[in-house]
Amino acid sequence: MSKLWQTGGAEELDPMVEKFLSSVEVDSRLVFEDIECSQAHAIMLGEQGIIPRQDASALVDELARIRKELEAGSLRVDLAAEDVHSFLEDELTRRLGDVGKSIHAGRSRNDQVAAAFKLHVRSACRRTRGLVRNAIAACLDVADEHIGTLMPGYTHLQRAQPVTLAHHLLAWCAALERDAGRFADAAIRADESPLGAGALAGSGLSVDRERTAGLIGFARVSTNTMDAVADRDAAIEYAAAAATLMAHLSRFCEDIVLWASSEYGFVKLSPRASTGSSIMPQKRNPDPAELIRGKAGRVFGDLQALLAMEKGTPYAYNRDLQEDKALFFELEDTVNGALGAFCVLVKSLEPDIARMRAALDAGYLEATDVAEFLVKRGVPFRTAYQASKLLVQRCIDAKKGLREITQADFSVHEAFEKAGISAAELAQYLEPQACVARRMQTGGPAPLRVREQIERLRAWLALE
Ligand code: ARG
Repeated sequence: MSKLWQTGGAEELDPMVEKFLSSVEVDSRLVFEDIECSQAHAIMLGEQGIIPRQDASALVDELARIRKELEAGSLRVDLAAEDVHSFLEDELTRRLGDVGKSIHAGRSRNDQVAAAFKLHVRSACRRTRGLVRNAIAACLDVADEHIGTLMPGYTHLQRAQPVTLAHHLLAWCAALERDAGRFADAAIRADESPLGAGALAGSGLSVDRERTAGLIGFARVSTNTMDAVADRDAAIEYAAAAATLMAHLSRFCEDIVLWASSEYGFVKLSPRASTGSSIMPQKRNPDPAELIRGKAGRVFGDLQALLAMEKGTPYAYNRDLQEDKALFFELEDTVNGALGAFCVLVKSLEPDIARMRAALDAGYLEATDVAEFLVKRGVPFRTAYQASKLLVQRCIDAKKGLREITQADFSVHEAFEKAGISAAELAQYLEPQACVARRMQTGGPAPLRVREQIERLRAWLALE
């Protein structure tokens, strides 16, 4: 197939090189965005008197027809074309003759591809943000049910202090909320039109960039025509937000994989979001969680590839930039797929409340509360810490829990006697439920605070 830039005759491209350069299999995904931008461009050309108004109308109508046919499946993007932009111009020319040939006045494929792609990235930011919000909603649904479900919180993967399952899920939500913010920000910056930048220097024709931007629904026009065709920041910002999001999803999934192990036994996986083993009939494997973890690496790689693609390109457009779309579509599909699977995974978790509660009975998670109890009685914290540590050691030696102490155990440190503490009142103070309930700081695990955060997030989700 001859190219837009070929005039016939001796300019034959080697078939292997032609195949190598072709991007149509990838960028055909932008066909509807390109139709939208092309319609705006045609309207503007007519309004500006660059082409006759009736030709502009014919172009707009034919593009609408092409869209319908593509949607209906009666027309397909021709994979012999160099790219989707060439396909559309060829198609218009085939149908409208000279009128079709007039559409490319005042534009270049450089601003054309930048505009269609930016339009796509802007909607991708919005769509992925919506899916992140769905993931938050899924976590909140589970959190709602488990505001009082006690479990160990960990640091260094060692049982540390009692928290609740709802509090743990809200930790995930806090990260996801930032992710949603990053996609929202990226969408704002992606909201500017490169159209009318031409190859790099605009056009000598009276092209009206503000008009096409307005018709397409871009908030602004990009401020420099060279930047407009060279810039792929919108894709990079999406990729950076996606990489951060995948790092989060990956660690949430790591939590889930641990919880689902026989060693923890904190959750059972529903058949909706786990798989069996082909050889071991007893197994339920957390494959979706593992694959989300695995896909994170792919997304990090795509971000690196986009950065590397851009870094060595002199201003303005270079063909290197064609790689943006394959990388971006892979990112987008991977992230959206991971978010979809994550929602199902979270919603189908079956927490084993008794196992989680039982995990609080070993590991002396109330040791900090012993020290804090002494602090409340006027003991300096470091002294209280020492006293608490000795009491824990005594319990370890006696193979019993902190809530089983007797008055005699207080002989490990004078602070207990001096503060006039009774074993019974301390034991009561150390009930995990009480430990959690008094952690009333903003963002803390106390049910009251957790409920506040759930309500705040629900109100935010309801805003749209
Ligand atoms: N398929 C190309 C891309 O995606 C379109 C731009 C081609 N422009 C050019 N000057 N060769 O980047």
